[in-house]
Amino acid sequence: MGTIVESWTEWDPLRHVIVGRATDCHIPPNEPALEAKVPEDSDMRGQHGKRPQEMIDKGNELLDNFAAMLEGRGIIVDRPTPTDFSLPVTTPDFHTDSQFGCMPPRDVLLTVGKEILEATMSYRCRWFEYLCYRPLMQRYFDEDPGFRHEAAPKPRLTDADYHDNYLSEKIGVEQRLKWAAEKHFVTTEEEPLFDAADVLRFGKDLVVQHGFTTNLKGIEWLKRHFPDHRVHTVNFPGDPYPIHIDATFTPLRPGLILNNPQRRLPDDQRGLFERNGWEIVDAAQPAHNQPPALCYSSVWLSMNVLALDDKTVCVEASEVYQADQLDKLGFEVVPVDLRDAYAFGGGLHCCTADVRREGGLQDYFP
Ligand code: ARG
Repeated sequence: MGTIVESWTEWDPLRHVIVGRATDCHIPPNEPALEAKVPEDSDMRGQHGKRPQEMIDKGNELLDNFAAMLEGRGIIVDRPTPTDFSLPVTTPDFHTDSQFGCMPPRDVLLTVGKEILEATMSYRCRWFEYLCYRPLMQRYFDEDPGFRHEAAPKPRLTDADYHDNYLSEKIGVEQRLKWAAEKHFVTTEEEPLFDAADVLRFGKDLVVQHGFTTNLKGIEWLKRHFPDHRVHTVNFPGDPYPIHIDATFTPLRPGLILNNPQRRLPDDQRGLFERNGWEIVDAAQPAHNQPPALCYSSVWLSMNVLALDDKTVCVEASEVYQADQLDKLGFEVVPVDLRDAYAFGGGLHCCTADVRREGGLQDYFP
């Protein structure tokens, strides 16, 4: 069966998707990027090594069930091939004792039209994660003569990529919020850095979060790489750990975006949406007070939903308030049990990457 790669938005009808795996996932050893990104009170601090096998098995069971549900709806699902994440990585510029995993493909792969772009990434432990997707990329290349497989320049990730005042000592949330408001993030402007999950696709427009995992040079690189797109930089000053946009700002259909009420888009960045009649609504409260054990993300994975089309949206099954809000907004809500896979890197949007959504390139902000 011939693959077709093409996806321009977060909400067009989903036809083909990649779902991550929890297999062999490791908690990586400390490194500058991670030190700044793990909250001070997190149970992950000071830990590293392979994650407990029972948790990996449970995570895989939930991811497999999610994949089977999507297949039941006629969506083609592919899975990555894990490499050995216990292996260290040594380049001429850095060394790390182990790697991460292949759970959130959204962080690594950015699909824009007929192109899948491998992000630079900004963590040393995730530098080689693209290898897990290479068997799929090779197959798509063979099957779809229009597919463009691209990789952004691999960053050197020396210490010059990180502000050292973000490291080592206990910083505290207040200081982090102050720095976030000043757009002083852990990553410097040494070289272009971006994770794919900082980018949202709205047809001709790409909305990119400037934060810990994407710097301004990374956004400039994206602008030059996608000259036919308009690339917009956004910030969410209420987020003390701005890592990946998809638990903060979630487009659901043309004209409607959910925004995390603790991380509101500043007024001076709303013009694009307001001029074009888009509504930005506060997301419902999460159903949980705490993330699950050994999880990097916050409780706001509640709003990390996956749109199957502009009327149907997958929501984590325990997130009853989020489900209720989406129901009232007129969506068919598909509950998916995924909370015990959050620890591997995220929710329903994170754990997937688009291969194909129906529909062509449109201009939503003319
Ligand atoms: N930084 C977000 C939060 O904790 C989590 C984003 C996860 N997204 C992802 N693509 N891995 O609220």
